[in-house]
Amino acid sequence: MHVDPLEKKWMYVVALITVVMIASMTYAAVVMNLHPPSNVETIDPKTLHLSGEFAEDNLGVTTNPDGSVTVRMVAARYAFYPQLIEVPANTPVKFRITTPDVLHGVHVPFTNMSTMIVPGYVSEVNTQFSRTGEALFLCNEYCGLGHDYMWSRLRVLPAD
Ligand code: CUA
Repeated sequence: MHVDPLEKKWMYVVALITVVMIASMTYAAVVMNLHPPSNVETIDPKTLHLSGEFAEDNLGVTTNPDGSVTVRMVAARYAFYPQLIEVPANTPVKFRITTPDVLHGVHVPFTNMSTMIVPGYVSEVNTQFSRTGEALFLCNEYCGLGHDYMWSRLRVLPAD
């Protein structure tokens, strides 16, 4: 089969780009522990506040029998509820976050806690925090005029 030399050159370029992209994704996943959101779980944004795990009384931090922690939060224009989350250090933390209105994001600087919060879905992130102290819980998807003011606090306490 005859392949034009110029076309062959571009085939090598495409192959090289593919290898570099797969290598960088593998590096991010293995070394930096960054993963795309993988939890596909739907919820009705119009009724999530009425009953179930995202009703107001059920939000916040729950300690599970195995010692891990589950945090349930609602992101709504323009705040995260509850406003202050306290979790123990070096303990598995599962965040479950959803929104009744528009697309939001959440990012805790200098950690791998980062996800989009899409209306109609429950975003789930499994992580743990090694550094104690207070960190910001920031919205990082433009969600309207109050986006700049949409943040809350995460306090990491020494595990006891
Ligand atoms: Cu919520 Cu930006």
